[in-house]
Order: sequence, then C-alpha cells, then structure tokens
Amino acid sequence: MKTKGKTKTGFGNFLTDVISISDFSREDIEKVLAEAKRMDEMPRNKKSELLKNTVVASLFFEPSTRTRLSFETAAQNLGARIIGFADPNVTSTKKGESLSDTIHMVENYADIIIMRHYIEGAAKRAAEISRKPIINAGDGANQHPTQTLLDLYTIKKEFGKIDGMKIAIAGDLKYGRTVHSLMYALAMFNNITVYLISPESLKMPRYIIDDTKSSLKIFETQNMDKYLQDADILYATRIQKERFPDEIEYEKVKNAYVVDLAMLKKAKPGIKVMHPLPRVNEISVEIDNTPYALYFQQAANGIPVREALFYLLRGVSK
Ligand code: CP
Repeated sequence: MKTKGKTKTGFGNFLTDVISISDFSREDIEKVLAEAKRMDEMPRNKKSELLKNTVVASLFFEPSTRTRLSFETAAQNLGARIIGFADPNVTSTKKGESLSDTIHMVENYADIIIMRHYIEGAAKRAAEISRKPIINAGDGANQHPTQTLLDLYTIKKEFGKIDGMKIAIAGDLKYGRTVHSLMYALAMFNNITVYLISPESLKMPRYIIDDTKSSLKIFETQNMDKYLQDADILYATRIQKERFPDEIEYEKVKNAYVVDLAMLKKAKPGIKVMHPLPRVNEISVEIDNTPYALYFQQAANGIPVREALFYLLRGVSK
C-alpha cells in the first residue's frame, strides 16, 4: 500500500490507492477481510448511508462482468453515486485523449476511481496522477488485487483459515493476472503449498516464482492429476485468448485442461474448485451443482470485499 497520503484511513496507516497486492502487508489484508466479514453480516439498510455524498467513478477500458458490476453494486449498497463507462469507445479516449488527461478530469468529478485497463502499469500511472484513490480493477496481464482479496476471503470463509492451505493453480499462469496477485498474497501467509499446473508455454513467470519461493512451497507440473490427491483447492483459470500475440499459439493450448467430475472423484476428499471467472470450458458444467463448486460463491464474495475497500478508502485525499 502506498504511504504518501495525508488522510488517515481505516487501515490504520496511510492507504491511498489499491494498485498491487504487494503494497499490502498481511495485517492490511486481514483488516480488509475482517471489514468484508462485517459488511457481509450487516443488513443492507444499515450500510446504505456509509458512503453517502461519495461519488465513485467506474472506468472500464477492458470488458468485465463481475468486477464492474460488483464494484458498482457495492458502491450503491453503501449509498454512493456512480459515474463512468463500460466501453471506452463512447468516451473521448476514442478522439485521442490520453489516460493522464482522462484521470485529471475524473478526479474532479469523483471521490474514488476504479479503473480496469489493458496496459500493464496503467493503474500505477493513474495513481501517480490522481489526487483521489485509484483502485486497480485489473491492468493487462499484471495484477488484479481486488480479485485476490475476494479469493482470500472465500478461502477463509470456506476453510476457516488461509495458513497451511495446499492450492493447485491450473491453466494460463503466464497471462492470468489473478494468479499473479494470488501468488504474492499467499506468500504473506504461513506454510502454504502451491502446485502450479500449466502447459510449458503458459508457466508462471519466473520473476514471480523467484519473488515468492522463499515463503511458498512451489511445485510445477504439466500434469493436472499429479497433485490433486494433496490439494485442498483447485484454482482453475481461463486461457487468456485476448493476450496471445499469435492465435495459432492459443489454438495449441486452448483445451489444455478441463476439470470434470471424474477428475474430482479421484482428488482429495473435500477439494473445492475456485475460478475467477469467466470460464470458457475449463470447468465442466456438471460440477456447478456439486459440493466441489466454490466459484459462484467466490464471485458473490466480491460484493462484501469491495464494500470493505470503499469503506476503508472513504475520505482519502492525497
Ligand atoms: N474475475 C473477473 O475479473 O471477472 P470479470 O472480467 O468479469 O470482471
């Protein structure tokens, strides 16, 4: 978390933006999870004025269903007003306006700015420009810190703990920003094992493994079945077609892994399947109504987690 802010927040230090999960300490993450639990348990009529007179800007330069709609629902649940766009083609970006100028404008209109952008580092750049807090809703293949916070919230809610978990992470580990943030977050907890399952061409970037290997026990494989007897969670991810420079390369790996019932019946009893969604065909729909499926609940947990972030960022001015 950056510490240049002047306004003290509910984090107990000087949070001003949510850009990278690496800006958080474990204590910060636990603060968000505790606040999210409080939001989860609070009746909607009790929280409907917590962000009264706050304007939230929702700037989505890339497609989204869950992240945008859950942020906007969270803001409305707390009584905030929302401005923004889901399609940059209807904005002056289309006429050539720079990201810097867009942020300079929006900081005059809004108190908190959520931004998803296709360029890695765009959220960090926006945070350097803006006097108002920026929340990174995903920047290219780099990071998706609020997804990670809801992933951790989901794990804690389901298993009662994060320490000691064994998590198999499968799919596109190269371009999948959710799993990049997740690796850094898990490295802040104790005794975590991660099994990284991917095609050779989509392995977790080396720098992330190097950054986390002193805290995590990491095993890499291309074989989906190899560690499922040991894993508490199978975290599946979509092959990120839109990030491939070459469609032929995508065609080679697009059906690399499909989680089905037969596979899970051979896995550790009680294993849960998570996925940041959207899925294409990585998880067979036959799983959806079984006790294995945690992914829809995971997506629903985006609301209390994002309410918590808004609450903790309220009133911040840099
Ligand atoms: N998990 C996630 O980021 O989903 P959306 O792309 O639909 O926002």
